[in-house]
Amino acid sequence: MVETRIYHANELDSLEVREDIRNAFEHGCNVVFPTETVYGIGANALDVKGIQGIYDVKGRPSDNPLIMHVSRVEDVFLYTKNHQPYVKELMEHFWPGPLTLVFDKNEQVPNLITGGLSTVGIRIPGSVVARKVIEIASVPVCAPSANISGRPSSTMFEHVYEDFYNKVDIIIDGGKSQVGIESTVLDVTGEVPVVLRPGMITANMIANVVGKVYIEGENDGIHAPKSPGMKYKHYAPAGEMVIVDGAKDDVVDYINKELDRHMVNGFSTAVITTKEMLGTFHTNHQFSVGRIEEDEEIASNLFMLLRKMDVLQIDRIYATMMVGGPHEEAIMNRLLKAANHRVVKV
Ligand code: TXA
Ligand code: MG
Repeated sequence: MVETRIYHANELDSLEVREDIRNAFEHGCNVVFPTETVYGIGANALDVKGIQGIYDVKGRPSDNPLIMHVSRVEDVFLYTKNHQPYVKELMEHFWPGPLTLVFDKNEQVPNLITGGLSTVGIRIPGSVVARKVIEIASVPVCAPSANISGRPSSTMFEHVYEDFYNKVDIIIDGGKSQVGIESTVLDVTGEVPVVLRPGMITANMIANVVGKVYIEGENDGIHAPKSPGMKYKHYAPAGEMVIVDGAKDDVVDYINKELDRHMVNGFSTAVITTKEMLGTFHTNHQFSVGRIEEDEEIASNLFMLLRKMDVLQIDRIYATMMVGGPHEEAIMNRLLKAANHRVVKV
C-alpha cells in the first residue's frame, strides 16, 4: 500500500507541489490527473517501472497499449516516424483536444507502452490542468483512463478516489471532466485515416478536414488495424443492463412491465434515460443523462450514472436509446458496451 497525496488543481502553482509531482514521475510512481475527457492514471512514458505500475494497479491486460500525452506538437516528432501529409492539419484543427492519433512509433518508445505494436497513440489534452501536469513531469506521460479494468472510466474526483486511494502516489482533483467520454482514437499510419474508437471528435468532423476517413469494421477489405482495447469488455455496471429500442410509448410500456415484474421478485431496479422520458417509469431510481438535442451533456453524464448503478447496488438496469444528436455514435458505443450489447427491440 502507498499513502496517496491529494492535491487540488489550483495547487499546481505551488513550488512544493510541483516538486512532489515531478519527483513522482521521475521515480516511476503513478499520478492520477484530470483531463477534459476522463481522468488518466499517468506515469513517465519512458520509464518501464512507472508503466508496469499502471498495468498492475489497473489490472489491465498487458497487450492493451497506453496512450502517450504530450504538451507540445514538436514532441510528437521525437517519438514517431513516417508522417502522412494530412497529419499536420489534424493536429492544427483538433489539438489540444479529445483526439488520439496513432502513428508509427520510433525506437524511443518502450514496447511495454504499445503492447508490442509498432504504433503509438499520442494526444495533447485540451485540459489546461492536464497540460500543466505534463509540463511539470517534463517527460511524455502515458495514461490510460483512471479506472480499475472493467469499471466505467472516471469523470469525477470521487471516482478516482474510490478506485485508487492508497494505490497510487498522487491524485490531482480537477473536478468533473467536461467531455465525459474517452478521446476518439484515429489511426493515421495509412493514406486515409481510420477511426478505431469513436469519440466526441466525430468521423464527419475529421472528414471535413482531411476529405476522407474510414471507420474500423465498416470498410471491408480496407487497411483497418484493430484497436486492442476494443476487444475487452468495458464499462459495465455489476447489475444486468438492457437497452430498449422502439417507439416511445412501446419502450415505456415494456420497461414498466419489466420493472413491475422485478419488484415482485425483490430486485432493485433503475432506468437511465433522456430528459424527454424522465418521470414515466415505475421505479424510484430513474435518471436523466440529458437532452438529445444537447448530447454533449449526455456524454458528460453517462459514466457518472453508470457508476451510480453500482453504488446503489442496482440488480436490473434499463436504458433508453440515446440517438438523434451529433455524437450518437460515440455515446451509443459506450452504452452498448455497458449493456454487454443486450438490446431489446419492442
Ligand atoms: O481520453 C482518453 O483517451 C483517455 C485520457 C486519459 O486521455 N485515455 C484513455 O486511455 O481512454 P485507455 O487506455 O483507456 O484507452 C486507449 C484506447 C484503448 O482502446 C487502446 O487499445 C487504444 O486506445 N490504443 C492505444 N494505443 C493504440 C495503438 N498504438 N494502436 C491501436 N489502438 C491503440
Ligand atoms: Mg479505458
